[in-house]
Amino acid sequence: MELNDTLEHQPQASGATKKVFVKTYGCQMNVYDSQRMSDALAAEGYLPTEAIEDADLVLLNTCHIREKAAEKVYSELGRIRKLKAERARDGRETVIGVAGCVAQAEGDEIIRRAPVVDLVIGPQTYHRLPEVVRKARTGEKVVETEYAIEDKFEHLPAPARKVVRSRGVTAFLTVQEGCDKFCTFCVVPYTRGSEVSRPVSQIVAEAERLAEAGVREVTLLGQNVNAWHGEGPDGGEWGLGRLLFRLAEIPGLARLRYTTSHPRDMDDALIEAHRDLPALMPYLHLPVQSGSDRILKAMNRKHTAVDYLKLIERIRDARPDIAMSGDFIVGFPGESDEDFEATLRLVREVTYAQAFSFKYSPRPGTPGAELALQVEENVKDERLQRLQALLNEQQKAFAESLAGREIDVLLEKPGREAHQKVGRSPWLQPVIVDEKAGEIGDIVKVRITKAGSHSLFSEPV
Ligand code: SAH
Ligand code: SF4
Ligand code: F3S
Repeated sequence: MELNDTLEHQPQASGATKKVFVKTYGCQMNVYDSQRMSDALAAEGYLPTEAIEDADLVLLNTCHIREKAAEKVYSELGRIRKLKAERARDGRETVIGVAGCVAQAEGDEIIRRAPVVDLVIGPQTYHRLPEVVRKARTGEKVVETEYAIEDKFEHLPAPARKVVRSRGVTAFLTVQEGCDKFCTFCVVPYTRGSEVSRPVSQIVAEAERLAEAGVREVTLLGQNVNAWHGEGPDGGEWGLGRLLFRLAEIPGLARLRYTTSHPRDMDDALIEAHRDLPALMPYLHLPVQSGSDRILKAMNRKHTAVDYLKLIERIRDARPDIAMSGDFIVGFPGESDEDFEATLRLVREVTYAQAFSFKYSPRPGTPGAELALQVEENVKDERLQRLQALLNEQQKAFAESLAGREIDVLLEKPGREAHQKVGRSPWLQPVIVDEKAGEIGDIVKVRITKAGSHSLFSEPV
């Protein structure tokens, strides 16, 4: 800890401090990775900045999941080209880097399309970032997208305690990466590689460090987080359920969450953790994508709609107040009106507290993109609107059902108004709380007075 605490005060060699601007797209795993990259660069003498025009190094941590996400990067690079030219006129060097899933998927193609880019680095090699930046500063274009043999997490420096503190009382912790499931619409198995679980000892040590720095809530991350497995200190094979019990023993950690889980990997031990572990929050993101068995099969999800409904029944038996969240895709190739109606039926049956829905986006290299019977854009639009109307209604009804109830809120930050603080409900909703209710990091009891469109309002009890 001491060692890391001093790192950020010792910009190396070149003397003057350099600045890095990191922009993050995509999922929470990218948010986590951006922090780890910033930590690695801090050890190299780069301090983070929020002002892109002050940055000696600009890093875009990108997402490839849908076409729109991937294309955003190129419009951003267009703006950055002008910025780099302006800085060059003042004699200032700017290194431009692309990291993340677009980097992994497109590699040197990015430099061909956007010559302003100096370095491209894939998610599996972030521990080599300092070396890659050094090389890029000599004027060489660097593309680092090979899967590393060594474990990047072992080589990435831990953040200084005060850096953790500055990031707040909640934190992400990636425990699993990659995916072996190959859903036919999805790029993740290609951009993140095959499923890898981090060892128990590494995860526990990181969670302990977070807790020591004041973190109260940890969200375990993975593209298939509930496929996580590892050897426990007892020599036995642990799954995510067992790991959650271990993490709940860490002093200071009051709340645990995990995301994203796959229906096929919800085992009994994990469902029991929802029943028996008070620290595990009653909120579960469990994407289903579609309610039609025909489409689920074409998507290679390897379960039926009834399998999913039965699973949720078991989870709700174990933890009756659990709030369900999900992901949906409309307009997968071959999706008929009837298939779409099946999705609406499933949504009505489950009742979601929160959900994310997308129009199918054909991705290069995935089997789905090759399928005949691509659904027309206007049909996708119409289906998305209908689905979102239903999901919004359910989300609103869930929030309103909390009015009048006393709930625990973890205070996270000051509110917009001086007399307010903002916290989170067990179900992930922002809650506006009276400033005097407690300190940031406290878990306080409040009574919900009403549900707004994005947050809950409360009064002290
Ligand atoms: N591992 C998670 C999902 C990760 S991707 C799971 O299996 O559920 C996050 C979400 O993006 C997916 O759940 C899906 O709803 C959406 N998504 C992925 N590929 C997509 C595509 N090609 N078009 C539209 N949405 C997509
Ligand atoms: Fe993509 Fe399917 Fe893997 Fe999720 S399980 S990351 S949707 S391939
Ligand atoms: Fe996007 Fe990669 Fe995450 S494609 S959703 S950033 S794993």
